[in-house]
Amino acid sequence: MAEIPPILLVGFGKMGGAMLAGWRERGLAHSVAVDPVLPPVLGPDMTVVADAAAIPPGFTPEAVVLAVKPQNAEASLPLYARFSGSAVFLSIMAGRTVAGMRTLLGENAAIVRAMPNTPAAVRQGISVAFPGPGVTMRQRDLCDTLLEAIGKVAWVDDEGLIDPVTAVSGGGPAYVFLLAELLERAAVEQGIPPDLARLMARQTVAGSGALLAASTEDAAVLRKAVTSPKGTTERALAVLMADDAWPALISRAIAAATARSRELAG
Ligand SMILES: NC(=O)c1ccc[n+]([C@@H]2O[C@H](COP(=O)([O-])OP(=O)(O)OC[C@H]3O[C@@H](n4cnc5c(N)ncnc54)[C@H](OP(=O)(O)O)[C@@H]3O)[C@@H](O)[C@H]2O)c1
Repeated sequence: MAEIPPILLVGFGKMGGAMLAGWRERGLAHSVAVDPVLPPVLGPDMTVVADAAAIPPGFTPEAVVLAVKPQNAEASLPLYARFSGSAVFLSIMAGRTVAGMRTLLGENAAIVRAMPNTPAAVRQGISVAFPGPGVTMRQRDLCDTLLEAIGKVAWVDDEGLIDPVTAVSGGGPAYVFLLAELLERAAVEQGIPPDLARLMARQTVAGSGALLAASTEDAAVLRKAVTSPKGTTERALAVLMADDAWPALISRAIAAATARSRELAG
């Protein structure tokens, strides 16, 4: 018995593909994916079609997952308005508000707006979701199950919070990958051979993430455990934690991304 009912996935890209993989691991009822570049044949439990017109007649999904780029919303969302009333829409599109999507899907469309992040590809994502008006508890539970298949899920009841969520966890993996890049570069500057520098930087970021995930301690406690008084790490942290360094820079970066998310909202 499939845990997940029939789903219509619109957009089989990085995020849509990661979600589908997670659902299939849990057991997915016969579902349909739409993408102009047809993904590989996925097995007898999936129908993949190039456009909305090719969705098999009579297919009645319980959820329509909108995983196209935000700039494709105007052209593609109205093609799915006919599912409004019978299905919940789960959108992972950045910047697309529930009100904006309702103008394309129908004024009464039940829409959950969520912001996942790319560690979804290894089921280690975090999605923060907002239930729009008219979403039933059953529909919310279904969206929770769909998002839980790619990592952790949290819900907010203020849609405005999706902007800072986008800045912190939506874009967050990019900041962590930048840290790996910069550690690698600094290691090379100190004379470490490039291959070793790359290995050290990658494994330090990945291992620290795994340690954080396995621990119930605050990040600050784990940081202090590495920091002996008058030692080498303390010297580095004095540079990084100066008032005008990381504390100010991270605040400014997140504020800038939050402001950009608000600018893009529509
Ligand atoms: N990547 C992230 O970090 C991240 C995080 C949170 C949320 N999101 C959101 O997730 C969504 C998808 O992002 P992504 O990174 O997965 O992008 P992506 O890899 O480009 O995936 C989008 C997919 O949708 C397809 N597509 C385009 N027009 C379509 C249409 N009319 N009908 C059906 N499919 C169509 C695209 O095909 P073509 O390639 O042929 O155009 C592509 O395969 C975006 O709205 C983004 O804001 C992304």
